[in-house]
Amino acid sequence: MSIFDVVPISVDDYERRARWRLPRFLYDYAAGGANNEETLSANRNDFAQITLRQRVMRDVSEVSTATTLLGQQAAMPVALAPVGMAGMYARRGEVQAAKAAETVGIPFTGSTMGVCSIDEINAATTSPNWFQLYMLRDREFVQEMLQRAWNSGTRTLVFTVDLAVPGARLRDFRNGMIGGGWLGKASQLAQLATSPGWAWDVGINGKPHFLGNLSGRVADAKDLNSYRDFVESQFDPTVTWDDIRWLRDQWQGKLLIKGVLEADDARAAIDCGAEGVVVSNHGGRQLDAVASGIRKLPEVVKALDGNGEAYIDGGVRNGIDVVRAVALGAQGVLMGRPWLYALAVHGEAGVRNLLGVFQREIAIALALTGVNSMGELNEDAIDRQPLA
Ligand SMILES: Cc1cc2nc3c(=O)[nH]c(=O)nc-3n(C[C@H](O)[C@H](O)[C@H](O)COP(=O)(O)O)c2cc1C
Repeated sequence: MSIFDVVPISVDDYERRARWRLPRFLYDYAAGGANNEETLSANRNDFAQITLRQRVMRDVSEVSTATTLLGQQAAMPVALAPVGMAGMYARRGEVQAAKAAETVGIPFTGSTMGVCSIDEINAATTSPNWFQLYMLRDREFVQEMLQRAWNSGTRTLVFTVDLAVPGARLRDFRNGMIGGGWLGKASQLAQLATSPGWAWDVGINGKPHFLGNLSGRVADAKDLNSYRDFVESQFDPTVTWDDIRWLRDQWQGKLLIKGVLEADDARAAIDCGAEGVVVSNHGGRQLDAVASGIRKLPEVVKALDGNGEAYIDGGVRNGIDVVRAVALGAQGVLMGRPWLYALAVHGEAGVRNLLGVFQREIAIALALTGVNSMGELNEDAIDRQPLA
């Protein structure tokens, strides 16, 4: 970043600034992936291999980025992915991001692990937010969360299936976020001391730093560490498709299964009654040996054969990536880290600005591939797809 750079105009711009502003362990928690971060790199690099066709001499005076996502009108085929602890990146961060998404006209997804509960987020916006759920051992509590989400206005549930156990995110160990004893704590304190802007905005004024959806169940919660034991004891690795069928019976709204990469898993999700799947490897944070979502997308689209919508996430970094994904059959994309970086830097205004950038980039890419609408975009727009 040069001192002459004034306005952030890309995800990289926001990431560089976020790195400056955040305590190291929080930046690492966002930016990092599992093990050697090979899948994390693949998510990004694979997009770059897909080339589009430049089409000329077509009337592209009526370009529109509008679409529908699970039947809901959206200004562009983008939703904000669920991101745990976003409220540690900016004061009441989930609420700020949800407001930005509402202004732009796309869905925001609140995470089970959010600092702001889904009720707090829904109370701050008028358009319906999506809610992401992990299966917990305590099924009554799961039902209670579903009820709270529904009662406060959520109509789309994103159920994440790729976290049977957490991946090995080495950065979190190195920087003292997980384990590390007193040395780890001392390192974290030093990281906090060198982040004064963050300390004022979030550390002091962003309280309470609880995980809002879970706080009712964690006795004597004093800080985020109090939640670790609870979460670890509650994550349920026994979950199977039978539980998805159970969930389908509990939830009357739309159901999106997030975290499938294989065609037969995608079909199984739809057979359980889901309306769609997110082809995702959790942003490279789980199994560091799997292919990128964009590489697996065409297989999944083929397997669904029009029965259910396919979404993809992981490595989407600009509007051109969105056009690449839609051309390969996605109904839309989710983005995770990009919105978190923009939020860390400029709060709601940052997320709004970034989404504006994406929308303009999508419009330009549509026009230059010679189409006026998302609906007209298909494989004809793809020049080379070396990933298949
Ligand atoms: C810091 C962080 C926290 C995340 N927390 C959650 C979560 O609570 N639930 C979930 O389903 N996915 C979670 N994800 C995964 C994202 O929803 C999404 O799949 C991923 O970030 C997409 O990749 P991208 O960051 O390259 O856009 C998280 C990702 C990050 C970076």
